[in-house]
Amino acid sequence: MRFLITAGPTRELIDPVRYLSNRSSGKMGYAIAEAALEAGHGVVLISGPVNLDPPRGAHFISILTSDEMYNAVHRSVRDCDALVMCAAVADYKPQKFSTTKVKKRDENLSLELVPTRDILGSLQNEDRHFLVVGFAAETNDLEANAQKKLHAKHCDIIVANDVSNSNSGMESDENEVTILFRNGETKNISRAPKKIIARELVKIFTNT
Ligand code: C5P
Repeated sequence: MRFLITAGPTRELIDPVRYLSNRSSGKMGYAIAEAALEAGHGVVLISGPVNLDPPRGAHFISILTSDEMYNAVHRSVRDCDALVMCAAVADYKPQKFSTTKVKKRDENLSLELVPTRDILGSLQNEDRHFLVVGFAAETNDLEANAQKKLHAKHCDIIVANDVSNSNSGMESDENEVTILFRNGETKNISRAPKKIIARELVKIFTNT
């Protein structure tokens, strides 16, 4: 199978030295890429800025902003059998990019933010011959929010994780996930290293 996997955060640029981003480490996405390679699959990995080495054997595409990730996914998606959107794409970006550094002043500063383009949402009109897996990082009402995302984002599968707990989820080496399928089935993978969770996920994705 040919996997297209996204990982890590995006950076939304304010000016040449400042950006908005999030705590995503890329560990889960890179672990899925490694598990897919181990199982003999082809992998294209589109990654935001993280402190990890690209997995050997993957076709690696480095991006910075949500717009770059959007374009990279659209360029590669037609050639994949499974799209795994593990990246923590920023939901908002500054309305304007200042080409010069914004000067510090002795007054409050407001930043106007606009929603980024939803990459998963944008794929609903594609000729969908590939499996679509979304991720949901939630701090509350995990299953209900993930269920909404499954339908709103036209996913076949949503992998949901609780990021309110510092022992799993963002930045941690461990995770604990609930997998929601379109037919209403759910499956839990209890707390384990992300590498172990990734192997389970790849098995599930290849059998769906
Ligand atoms: O809505 P939320 O950001 O929580 O949704 C998470 C899922 O949607 C993830 O799979 C993420 O990669 C994807 N996403 C996206 N485009 C965005 C924001 C999130 O595809 N602009």
